[in-house]
Amino acid sequence: MRLANALAAVKPSASMAVSDAAKALKAAGEDVIDLGLGEPDFDTPAHIVEAAYQAAKEGQTRYTPTGGSTALKQAVARKFERENGLQFAPGEIIISNGAKQVIFDGLMATLEPGDEVILAAPYFGSYADIIRILGGVPVVVACPVEAGFRLQPSDLEAAITPRTRWLILNSPSNPSGAIYTGAQYAALGDVLMRHPDVAILSDEIYEHITFTEAGFVSFGAACPDLRERTLIVNGVSKAYAMTGWRIGYGTGPASLIKAMTTVQSQITSGASAISQAGAVAALDGPQDSVADFCAAFRRRRDLVVDRITAIPGLDLQPPEGAFYAYIECSGWIGRTTPNGQRLASDSDVATFLLDHAKVAVVPGAAYGLSPFIRISTATADAILDTALSRIADAGNALTGLAP
Ligand SMILES: Cc1ncc(COP(=O)(O)O)c(C=O)c1O
Repeated sequence: MRLANALAAVKPSASMAVSDAAKALKAAGEDVIDLGLGEPDFDTPAHIVEAAYQAAKEGQTRYTPTGGSTALKQAVARKFERENGLQFAPGEIIISNGAKQVIFDGLMATLEPGDEVILAAPYFGSYADIIRILGGVPVVVACPVEAGFRLQPSDLEAAITPRTRWLILNSPSNPSGAIYTGAQYAALGDVLMRHPDVAILSDEIYEHITFTEAGFVSFGAACPDLRERTLIVNGVSKAYAMTGWRIGYGTGPASLIKAMTTVQSQITSGASAISQAGAVAALDGPQDSVADFCAAFRRRRDLVVDRITAIPGLDLQPPEGAFYAYIECSGWIGRTTPNGQRLASDSDVATFLLDHAKVAVVPGAAYGLSPFIRISTATADAILDTALSRIADAGNALTGLAP
């Protein structure tokens, strides 16, 4: 079959590829620990499952309006009012099949071939591939560990060209865990005020998984003057352990949301009615499980920081949120494995860990900033503990000095 040219530059999701490799090894009888995939290992809270079950029994089994059910749009509006101090009318809200589709809809509704989208690396890999599918050009700005993995206003200014259509921000970040403060957002906002044609996509899907005093601030709350060109992306996947329900939501100017709804009408006709009913219960119901999940992620974050920083050649800036650790592995590059292979890149490190330690991790190359490896802490504590011991043992097996 002849495939579309647009797909030539697009890679399948790196974390899914790593997980597939881990699954294949497991199927072959290997004892592999998969730290690749980013999904909570908890069950969806019971009251959410019950609400969806009741909805299905009551006949909420038909198409909802393309842009989302009225009940869920209202629950989303209440969430933004309650948690972020932001007001949105139903026409400024869209419900999609996961946060990923909100991103896709937003970019598809706006990008022309050759348009540039600024990404702050390390970034969620799907951004770059969605941009490429649509004929756009990802413009990657490195945000090194010394900058706290955060985009600096001067670097943003330097990256903007007449072709820049969007800036994508993600806080708390997958993969680095970095969180922007209101002041840091405001400083980026000052730059953006000088460039009225640049829109902002703020991916806030990890909003509820934060470990710092300052906590989370929505870009929308920090930069109200940019409201007419800001698309906020969020969803229930991560906060409520609902990855398989496929519900995300977005807020933005009514003209953009209308165009995104048109896109969605020709792709999926909208999200599952039953999942939307569950999402209403998630947003409106008791929030205790969100705090419980966050406490577990914090405990695992602490474990990972302690153990990784004790391994020679690896380093980790404590993640401020989300459930990943973005581990610098420059001290392993140039060293030699027991098989005599010299580790030349973070992809080599990931392959070595899979082959030698039977631990699946994702190379930093997938996130635009090397040399790093990403592990997910959405894994039971005991399994994580074993994986960290295996990584330490693998490090001890390396010979030769880093250059
Ligand atoms: C930063 C970021 N945005 C969006 C998504 C996609 O979320 P969903 O599963 O709701 O589509 C992910 C999932 O890994 C993510 O890490």
